[in-house]
Amino acid sequence: MIINQWYVAADSTEVTAAAPAKVRLCGLDFTLFRDAAGRAHCISDVCVHRGASLGEGRMEKGCVECPYHGWQFDGAGNVVRIPSLPAETPIPKRARVDSYPVIERYGWIWVFLGDLPEAERPPLPDFPEYADTANWRTIRGDWHWRANYARIVENGLDFSHAPFVHPSFGDRDRAEIHDFEIEQDAWSARAKVTYIPPLPRGIWKLMRKERTPVQAQPSFHLSGATMRLDVWLTSSWHMVIFDVNTPVDETRTHTRWIMARNFFRHPLFDGDSRRRTLKIFAQDTQIVEKICPEIVPTDLREELSVKSDGLMNAFRQRRRELIERGWAIDVDMLRHHIDGKRALVIPSPARRESQGRNFVLKTVPLLPPRAEIALQSAAQ
Ligand code: FES
Ligand SMILES: [Fe+2]
Repeated sequence: MIINQWYVAADSTEVTAAAPAKVRLCGLDFTLFRDAAGRAHCISDVCVHRGASLGEGRMEKGCVECPYHGWQFDGAGNVVRIPSLPAETPIPKRARVDSYPVIERYGWIWVFLGDLPEAERPPLPDFPEYADTANWRTIRGDWHWRANYARIVENGLDFSHAPFVHPSFGDRDRAEIHDFEIEQDAWSARAKVTYIPPLPRGIWKLMRKERTPVQAQPSFHLSGATMRLDVWLTSSWHMVIFDVNTPVDETRTHTRWIMARNFFRHPLFDGDSRRRTLKIFAQDTQIVEKICPEIVPTDLREELSVKSDGLMNAFRQRRRELIERGWAIDVDMLRHHIDGKRALVIPSPARRESQGRNFVLKTVPLLPPRAEIALQSAAQ
């Protein structure tokens, strides 16, 4: 799990001004809520007074009230009231928790888990079809996996599994992947391939009566650990599956998906589209939840890649760059620390600005950046 990234923490509809919502992201707990103006906020869940869970509290005048002694926290994570203190007593400077940047987009709450200043934060992935309701029909849903989120994104970028895992998409007798180009930019990469699917069944027969080639373009964006799959079933019938993969912890992932189609736009076809989308997830789950090891190995030579794995490898490469910057959570250390011994948090931008002064809780252990690894091995 990597910090200084955007992750989707909730559906917009799950976050209200009526009650705080508690979510687990990257193995830690966070509290989401809306202030009186309707703006969504995300703060660390652990109260700095005696460690109660803020997400179990209640809302009071746009602030979260801790359920234990009633301290009230605003959207910036600052305590604005300590009920046990006489009104004229100043609030201690360290009465604050980390607060994380939030963007609402595509009906989701995106949270930046890290301390980078705004100008250095990555963009969110584009999804222009979402707002283009005149031409696109969208449906949405969730999927929960007992698997590591990077394995799940890789599965979505994996061209060569379709004929074996999704028989309605690919044909095992024509499983060869022809050459493809990988297009990359700073945060994402994509590649287009052609495959010959078996003839469709049910109402989808209307669309294709012959085994004509279908174009597919899987892509990833590091923000949200997003996987987007474009499929052109005919020259004009285009569908998109756009999913964000949030690490609940190292081995559990909450995927939120939106499926957009520019054909069969009547809501009558939603049920069929949903069934097909969920079937794909169910087929992938059978495989992905049993991959060994559960985590993508740090030394990539421990798995053998071939040419058709190119897009997955581009994703591995990008993640590796982030890990080498020193942004990967050291999960072994984290487990050791939080096993009832210590509350830890992901550093927030305000913490960086104040150089860690005035914050009570310590931050999560991170794997050393590449420069330090090089120094350590030189010293050995
Ligand atoms: S533990 Fe939160 S107010 Fe005391
Ligand atoms: Fe799949």
